[in-house]
Amino acid sequence: MLGSPRCHGLTEWGGVMAVMIAWSDEFSVDIQEIDEQHKCLVSLINKLYEALARKDNQDTIADVFDELVRYTRVHFSVEECLMRLFAYEGYEQHKTIHDKIVVRVELLHAQFKAGDQSVGMELLYFLKDWLMDHIQRVDKSFAGHLTAHGVKQKWLRKFW
Ligand code: FEO
Repeated sequence: MLGSPRCHGLTEWGGVMAVMIAWSDEFSVDIQEIDEQHKCLVSLINKLYEALARKDNQDTIADVFDELVRYTRVHFSVEECLMRLFAYEGYEQHKTIHDKIVVRVELLHAQFKAGDQSVGMELLYFLKDWLMDHIQRVDKSFAGHLTAHGVKQKWLRKFW
């Protein structure tokens, strides 16, 4: 179920272990709403990495996994809504990529819930590779369209 874009990864993140992905300005698409959501995804991926590395119990890992799947869906919905509002020509292509990622993530999620704990690391590497490539190649393209058509790039204040 989709909810608010609130991300628990950032507020609860306080780990001291090495992170899987470190946020860098090179990931920025120059639209604060999207950047903050991408930072949440990075944080949740790091949180899952930390839980797997610590060999936390199944329920704890499952909670992070659930949050990551849920937040990925929220994030994609927000981006797709913005694309429609700003009549982005590449909408169908971008949405197809999102849909394929969701199918893959949900398959891994289902396998994990069925007891195959090995998929945790597979999901991590899949998401890490996706995030690096998708943000820098696909998201920057649509963000450039939004910026060119007058989207507000900075928040007036933080809403979430
Ligand atoms: Fe930020 Fe198109 O996902």
